[in-house]
Amino acid sequence: MQEKNILTDKKDSVLIVTLNRPKFMNALNIETLKEGKEILTDVYFDPDIRAVIITGAGDRAFCAGADLKEREKMNEVQVRHYIKTIRETLIDIENLSKPVICAINGAALGGGTELAMACDIRIADPQATFGLTEVTLGIIPAGGGTQRLPRLVGIGKAKELILTGKRISAQEALNIGLINRVALEGKLMDEALEMAQSIAKNAPFAVQQAKFAINRGYEIDIYSGLALESKAYDVCIPTKDRIEALKAFKEKRKPVFKGE
Ligand code: COA
Repeated sequence: MQEKNILTDKKDSVLIVTLNRPKFMNALNIETLKEGKEILTDVYFDPDIRAVIITGAGDRAFCAGADLKEREKMNEVQVRHYIKTIRETLIDIENLSKPVICAINGAALGGGTELAMACDIRIADPQATFGLTEVTLGIIPAGGGTQRLPRLVGIGKAKELILTGKRISAQEALNIGLINRVALEGKLMDEALEMAQSIAKNAPFAVQQAKFAINRGYEIDIYSGLALESKAYDVCIPTKDRIEALKAFKEKRKPVFKGE
């Protein structure tokens, strides 16, 4: 039986999603993207999953971007199809109803850096590297790279990285704000899980609405953003979890959130 391109493993309410093509540095071929899209659709509606971690198999690469061996055999229409699929898959990750932590365990290049940027929080192994290398290959970052990188690191740094196509270390990525944290040596998954669990213990509707308000509000003027924030709060008001939190506070105990 052929091994899956993406593995999933549930630890309590955290789903660990592992890109599983280590021989290809976890490069994203079209089959992997299709598997990813199916997983994302399932996760979106699964009430038992409260946070997601995306990582890569092996210790060399998180994801080396598009599968360049597959790409070589594609005609122009197939290339366009691929780019549309990766762009949409990364949008699905960004808009997922649960927070997504990216645990970057090695090289994250091209689509690998783009995948990391579509996640909500990025934690990297000290040996990880980053880069939008596309212009060195005669193309441009089109899985959202030209849009998400300037929003994360500022337009000047984004232009420097995209136009040179240079690769940077995890420490440099941290310095420019591309990632949230560099994990201690050998502790990447422990730290990612700890972060995921500290999110998963919170009220699911509140977490979902907060992510929605940040994502959607970031792109619009502040007063439209504040109106949107108010609507997102409205969704939390009738939830049982909100009442449970108040009860737990009064009773001096930890709340038990059920996502209701
Ligand atoms: N697509 C398909 N296969 C890839 C790949 C990709 N994007 N990146 C690496 N591989 C393959 C290599 O061809 C090699 O296969 P082989 O053993 O059949 O020759 C194998 O993965 C190992 O790669 P190698 O370069 O030998 O390992 P490394 O540890 O020296 O370097 C990388 C790893 C990821 C740093 C390096 O392979 C690299 O720079 N890849 C290109 C990344 C890139 O620019 N991606 C952007 C695409 S738009």
